[in-house]
Amino acid sequence: MKKQKRLWITAAAMAVVLAGCMVLQGCSGDKKDEKKSIRIGVVLYRGDDPFINNIRSNLEDKAKTYEKGTGIKVVMDVADSKGNQNTQNSQVDRFLSLGYDAICVNMVDRSAASYVINKAMDADVPVVFFNREPVEEDMKRWEKLYYVGEDAKESAVLQGNILVDLYQDNPEGLDLDGNGKVSYVLLEGESSHQDSLIRTEWSIQTLKDGGVPLEKLTGGIANWDRSQASALMEQWIEEFPKEIEVVICNNDEMALGAADALERSGDSRPVKIVGIDGTPQGMEGLKSGKLFGTVQCDSKEYADVIFEIAAAESLGQNVQEKVELNQGKYYECSQHTLTAESLK
Ligand code: GAL
Repeated sequence: MKKQKRLWITAAAMAVVLAGCMVLQGCSGDKKDEKKSIRIGVVLYRGDDPFINNIRSNLEDKAKTYEKGTGIKVVMDVADSKGNQNTQNSQVDRFLSLGYDAICVNMVDRSAASYVINKAMDADVPVVFFNREPVEEDMKRWEKLYYVGEDAKESAVLQGNILVDLYQDNPEGLDLDGNGKVSYVLLEGESSHQDSLIRTEWSIQTLKDGGVPLEKLTGGIANWDRSQASALMEQWIEEFPKEIEVVICNNDEMALGAADALERSGDSRPVKIVGIDGTPQGMEGLKSGKLFGTVQCDSKEYADVIFEIAAAESLGQNVQEKVELNQGKYYECSQHTLTAESLK
């Protein structure tokens, strides 16, 4: 009888411990692994930027395939900051106050990331920055800050080599008038963007290193924008009639703008225009012969990585096991060259 009572007491004690464990587990970090839905907020510096828009649609596709593959429901809310940092700050505040699990931020003003970081740290919500890189001091402030982008020097060297290869094969493909100089104009992106300066510098350096005898006619900033580029190019065509042989552009949109102006001018010389991005619009430009070449970054990989980091963080998983990161927080997407010739 005594023995039976002891057994009952032991069994009851075990049941209490077991129940306690279950309750504790329910409240601990493990609960995150059992989450059946995640909520991710995305803010875009400008929704009308074709390169960014392409990443956005790839992100939306990725969210759908992730849902199908994992059974985890994804709520992804995308907000367009329309080039206004204050608007973007309010959009971030809204996502945080609604308790989103992670936010993906394409800064309007990349030097103003501290507002977003302070708020995210207070709310303990991880941030995946992309395309517009916060300064290093900001990125170092917290282990839950990530950046996904591309190596600007690599884009530029690949772009420069498209022209070097052409020159080495056939110098008159670039030096259209055969005067021993390749006369170029240059269209640059936003001056505050980390990629503009590096793309410009390394594209020109690569041409020089490749033995192309360059002569700069002029250059200007067109802020990644097709119509601004087109307006500048129109002026330059008037200033240097039939002299421009090459147009080097920091992105495809500006390359397309230059091509628009050239077409309007009626100049039918085979001026070589090169861009960077490989957007759907850029690819069309290559196919129709408006652009000579571009450097395509893998925008599917770009979006997949942004999403994978945000999802892993949302579920409390180890991000490093899902995505290989530099210094635990940076990811650079792969890039490759495309020319009208290679598309054939
Ligand atoms: C660059 C891209 C541009 C523009 C810009 C916006 O990386 O080449 O086309 O989208 O980002 O930040």
